[in-house]
Amino acid sequence: MTEEWPAVGDMTEAGFDQPGTVDLSPHAEVAEQDVESSLRPRDLSEFIGQPRVREQLELVLSGALRRGRPPDHVLLSGPPGLGKTSLSMIIAAELGSALRVTSGPAMERAGDLAAMLSNLVEGDVLFIDEIHRIARPAEEMLYLAMEDLRVDVVVGKGPGATSIPLEIAPFTLVGATTRAGALTGPLRDRFGFTAHMEFYSPAELEQVLHRSAAILGLRLHADGAEEIAGRSRGTPRIANRLLRRVRDFAEVRADGAVTRSVARSALEVYEVDEIGLDRLDLAVLGALVRSFGGGPVGVSTLAVAVGEESTTVEEVCEPFLVRAGLLARTPRGRVATAAAWLHLGLTPPPETVGGTRSLFADDQD
Ligand SMILES: Nc1ncnc2c1ncn2[C@@H]1O[C@H](COP(=O)(O)OP(=O)(O)OP(=O)(O)O)[C@@H](O)[C@H]1O
Ligand SMILES: [Mg+2]
Repeated sequence: MTEEWPAVGDMTEAGFDQPGTVDLSPHAEVAEQDVESSLRPRDLSEFIGQPRVREQLELVLSGALRRGRPPDHVLLSGPPGLGKTSLSMIIAAELGSALRVTSGPAMERAGDLAAMLSNLVEGDVLFIDEIHRIARPAEEMLYLAMEDLRVDVVVGKGPGATSIPLEIAPFTLVGATTRAGALTGPLRDRFGFTAHMEFYSPAELEQVLHRSAAILGLRLHADGAEEIAGRSRGTPRIANRLLRRVRDFAEVRADGAVTRSVARSALEVYEVDEIGLDRLDLAVLGALVRSFGGGPVGVSTLAVAVGEESTTVEEVCEPFLVRAGLLARTPRGRVATAAAWLHLGLTPPPETVGGTRSLFADDQD
């Protein structure tokens, strides 16, 4: 621990959730869900970005509509906040089908899933969010349902137990996962089409922001949008969240219009820096560089140094720091790249690795 870095106690007391900061986690907050649904794109033509996924999906859906049969099962994979839930709703809307929504963690017992499946009507779209968290017995039931439109419901226990086959109406499963790697092979293989969602470019995020501003009735200047997009971590959910915070500032401290300078001042208040790092990200990088000489250091040690849970550091901060080329995950621990030193206004030691870029290196440790 060096002099210039505040003592751990000070930082923990200050807390990262105090009012005045904005949550830059890509996960949705509970209070955010209503606003989100009003900002959701309703059909494929309104869905911004992801050109490849959009084109592929358009073909899958048109083909199915032409044949008058439900399309293949679809897996949507990608980091949080990129539009998986939105796309599942769009798929149902484009097919003119009803959408039934559930999630992996809700399918604790195979019976829960059996009930859900047996209530499906022909052509329904069943959306299972966080499908990688589905319990094993339910997962096995799901294979059978996906492939043979059938489930076997076991009645009774022990030698007297009988299995009753139940027919399922032809349906389309849309699974969403932030961790495609955590899906078992047999489950993954039963999806006819997997859409890999990518982070959005700044230009695409600007379009998202303009669309949201129009819905919110907010005057957003082009340069204001550019400023917010650059700090949104490639994620529409974060872009929309920052837009709402900037709107507060614009209405209270300015004339309501969002220009570049209004956006800049607002995001300064909320402690979001020019590339979208927040206090916790900067604390992690700061500790890594100042207290541990740039690493390598284990994630739990790093988490203690910033007074946070390891999982928060691992799941909230690291994916973006890695993607931004500021932090590298190595078998020996976390390492700050030269870009990290420079971003903190420091000179990297000569042996520092450069801007290592690896996309979501989830599984390196
Ligand atoms: N392509 C897009 N065009 C416009 N807005 C989008 C787009 N993608 C996402 N959004 C916005 O971002 C918000 C988050 O999207 P969504 O809930 O679909 O993400 P998600 O991938 O399901 O996230 P999670 O993994 O946390 O469930 C939505 O409210 C929507 O307004
Ligand atoms: Mg979702």
